[in-house]
Amino acid sequence: MLFADICGYTALCAAADAEQVQALLSRFYELTDARIAAYGGRVIDHAGDGVVAVFGAPIAYGNDGERAVRAALELHKDAAQLRDPAGEAVRLHIGIASGEVVAAVIAGGAQAKYAVTGDPVNLAARLDALAHPGQTLISDTLYATLSQRADAEDLGELSIKGFDKPLRAWSVRGLRPAGGERRPFVGRHNELRQLSGALDAVLESRTGAAIYVRGEPGIGKTRLIEELRSRAVALGYACHTGQVLDFGVRKGQDAIPMVLAGLLQVDSSGAEVARRAAVERGLSERLIGPDQAMFINDLLDLAQPTELQSLFDAVDNTTRNQRSGEAVAAVLKGASLRQPRLVVIEDVHWASASVLSHLAQLTMAATEIAVLLVMTSRVEGDPLDKVWRASTHGTPLMTIDLGPLRPEEARLLAGGFIEASNRFAAGCIERAEGNPLFLEQLLRNAQESESSAIPPTIQSLVLARMDRLEARDKQALQAASVVGKRFGIAILRSLIDDPDYACDGLVACDLVRASAGDYLFAHALIQEGVYSSLLHSKKRELHRKAADWFGAQEPILRAEHLDRAGDPEAANAYLSAATDQAGRSRFEVALQLAERGAQLTTSAPVRCALILLRADTLRELGRSRDSITAFQEVVELAQDDVQRCRAWMGVAAGNRVTGDFAAAMAALNQAEPIAHRLALVADSSRIRHTRGNLYFAQGKVRECHDEHQAALVFARQVGDPECEARALSGLGDAQYARARMLTALGYFKDCVELSRQAGLVKVEVPNRAMCAHCLLYNNEVDRAVSEVHGACESAHKFGLVQSEIFALESLTFLLTMAGRYDEAEQAGAKCLSLARPAGARRFESTVLYVIAMLRIAQGKHAIARDQLAQSLELARQTGMGFLGGAIFGAIAYATADPGERRHALEQGEALLREPCVSHCHLWFYWSAIDASLAAGEWDMAVRYADALEDYVQAEPLPWAYLVSARGRALAAVGKGDTGNQGQLTRLREQASTGGFGWAVPAIDAALTRLQNFVAPR
Ligand SMILES: Nc1ncnc2c1ncn2[C@@H]1O[C@H](COP(=O)(O)OP(=O)(O)O)[C@@H](O)[C@H]1O
Ligand SMILES: [Mg+2]
Repeated sequence: MLFADICGYTALCAAADAEQVQALLSRFYELTDARIAAYGGRVIDHAGDGVVAVFGAPIAYGNDGERAVRAALELHKDAAQLRDPAGEAVRLHIGIASGEVVAAVIAGGAQAKYAVTGDPVNLAARLDALAHPGQTLISDTLYATLSQRADAEDLGELSIKGFDKPLRAWSVRGLRPAGGERRPFVGRHNELRQLSGALDAVLESRTGAAIYVRGEPGIGKTRLIEELRSRAVALGYACHTGQVLDFGVRKGQDAIPMVLAGLLQVDSSGAEVARRAAVERGLSERLIGPDQAMFINDLLDLAQPTELQSLFDAVDNTTRNQRSGEAVAAVLKGASLRQPRLVVIEDVHWASASVLSHLAQLTMAATEIAVLLVMTSRVEGDPLDKVWRASTHGTPLMTIDLGPLRPEEARLLAGGFIEASNRFAAGCIERAEGNPLFLEQLLRNAQESESSAIPPTIQSLVLARMDRLEARDKQALQAASVVGKRFGIAILRSLIDDPDYACDGLVACDLVRASAGDYLFAHALIQEGVYSSLLHSKKRELHRKAADWFGAQEPILRAEHLDRAGDPEAANAYLSAATDQAGRSRFEVALQLAERGAQLTTSAPVRCALILLRADTLRELGRSRDSITAFQEVVELAQDDVQRCRAWMGVAAGNRVTGDFAAAMAALNQAEPIAHRLALVADSSRIRHTRGNLYFAQGKVRECHDEHQAALVFARQVGDPECEARALSGLGDAQYARARMLTALGYFKDCVELSRQAGLVKVEVPNRAMCAHCLLYNNEVDRAVSEVHGACESAHKFGLVQSEIFALESLTFLLTMAGRYDEAEQAGAKCLSLARPAGARRFESTVLYVIAMLRIAQGKHAIARDQLAQSLELARQTGMGFLGGAIFGAIAYATADPGERRHALEQGEALLREPCVSHCHLWFYWSAIDASLAAGEWDMAVRYADALEDYVQAEPLPWAYLVSARGRALAAVGKGDTGNQGQLTRLREQASTGGFGWAVPAIDAALTRLQNFVAPR
């Protein structure tokens, strides 16, 4: 509220005639009304000799108080131009107070009158009355909002009529120029309303939302968010900001780690001890789950404790990204239970794929917890496209597109700099086209230079402003631009060889701002403008210095600076940086670095090493075909035989995955003599192991066994636990493939034990499932089930998707054998839900078969037939040697049609004569026996029971004996033999001790039949 009055008006009226007074008043009102309007105020009354105006109602612009004060200072000057009838300059006294007022329209129609009431109205009127001629008195609350800017005299506490307590007042002489300080916020009413609404809604509903603010650079995204942040803080939110940058990001300064560090309350030092302490605290307060610690460590750049390192490496890349995002989301969730959170991620147009995947997860998480997630981006390069949105499963994302400021808003913004009615200012406003950054820079430029030329672009403006800096500041600003949009004072001092340099000068003219212990350019475009002003030679020199400064501490930054310096060492630096990243399992980053390095160098050895690294990371990323091509390139470029050997091994591994066994074999045959000649024993072991696996897939069991045996010898010779564990696993497979299940169990157990000791989760998990299968054949179903449960858990925990599918499939099978059909059904459904999207067709085929067996046991034959048809279809695609025989056995069991049954049994038996895995035989006979029993074909049942026993002759299997003895006993009952009650009871006992719930009902039925049979006698 502003009240202004002419001094000595009563005396004036007495001395002069009414007409003269009237003329003076009209002139006075004309001037004051225009002035107040120019400053965004609204005149609500002309009371005798005075003016009453309101600023900030009905529309508040944010800097209303300041504009009122500025208007008042101008009003004194305006008045001085007026002469009273006595020829004296007119003088005013003015009072201004801020606070909440009630505003209302009190008369309608063309003469709409606007009235305000409330304490500030009374206070402003009283201050006006107390003011001396030429004085502007303001209330203490208004003074506080102007803080350091007001040049004002403290009048102390005054007792003021109508107020209980004495109130402090200030006499304003002027407002100091803004200096480094920010301009008040103007405009953006609708956007702020939306954003504030979202803040309120989160508090009310305790469920969050994600908001996306887009706009041209400089349009005011960051500023709008700052405004939002202060409102959020006032509402009790905790705020966390992560800034995505295009270049020069130091370790731990990435957007996601920044937010994470904030959530975990890492202290401001950000030192390693502080980060570690924060993780410990997070664990004990359960913000971080024990399984998530390794992902949090990785994000915070903490070395993994040894026990976690191998687990972390074991997780495949996609899952690692996924789990890492889940871990951050979990921390956010925990933190939001304590206090609502505003999380801001700025400038996502520069975000990498992994940041975007984190953001997708945070977006999804935010909708369920008290979190408002806000992301900002330029319009050009907007990365939140259809694909990204799909990855959030259609989570709503409210988009706010920021347009230019409206002309009246631009005028208000300009009003803070120079008088907005000034023609020059009007020129600037027009030139800036509503871009506040441009406008601000234009006006600052004008303030600094008094020149009336209007530079045409932000770039030229920045340069003009830079040229007026003191030489030291200019040099520092340029050096800083080489470091990037964010820079630390230490490196800046080193670049300009001035250990005492301080950024105060740059901060004062708002070219840079302090931010979390560092400095940030006030705007990205300012940094870009300054950087482009450097001569190439100077840029190179500074980049080289920066590279040296970062040194081994920051391998990526070192490489990137050397790259920009055009230094021949850059490729080598990329090689070390990429190796370092690959060592931390950050394969996407490693790949990019290796590719950039390879582009730069002409040195054959470095190039070859880079491409080899690229090939390795491609394989890690599951891009098998690309990796094969890269490995082939290395074969051509190889500088020595070691590289050549590794390249051939890479080609073999890739072809094994893609299923081109012949190419894989050929590559191994190239690698083997080299490994031999150079005595690369571990490599020799790997080569033999891979070859063993290739034989296994082709059903060549003998050859498979021999290769793994050789691999084992090499592994032990060189003492490499991983090679040894893998060789043991291969030997287990070879034994399993020919039904030596108990021998296989020995190998698998050794393999699991060794893997556990050496922390090789990837090897351990699938081999535990293999142990479980073997235990089943030893009639230890319960142990088998608990073993495979463990395998499922570990596989899930470490994101070993293939292993999890395999373990679940095994679990489904074992639970079916145990007669625990409901649990089996759940495990089967879960297995299918993982196997289908992963394209794991062989597992899908197997689990469909197992589910079909379960359906048969439940008497749901029709469903079983359907599933078997699907299973068979998939088996035809992936090779009948793995399961074909078993599927035909099950089909024979599921059908009611004798012709079909006979045909299926024939087909199954035919397949058993081809190379196939042992379980085809075991499971075929199992089904064939029961199928024959169900059909009353007693002799057939006996024949299959005998065949099963024959098949396991080389290594007798308890399971096979149980199955065949049961078959024969049931056949005997079927034939009418009543004398084997004792045998049946023994079998029942065996089946239930073994845990074969599946085998029991038929025995019970037979026993009942015998009792009924006996009873009539
Ligand atoms: N609504 C506004 N009121 C006052 N100043 C603003 C406003 N919007 C932007 N600015 C100023 O314009 C400059 C550029 O705005 P910024 O938010 O950094 O743009 P962006 O983030 O969109 O690139 C900043 O100095 C900022 O203070
Ligand atoms: Mg911004």
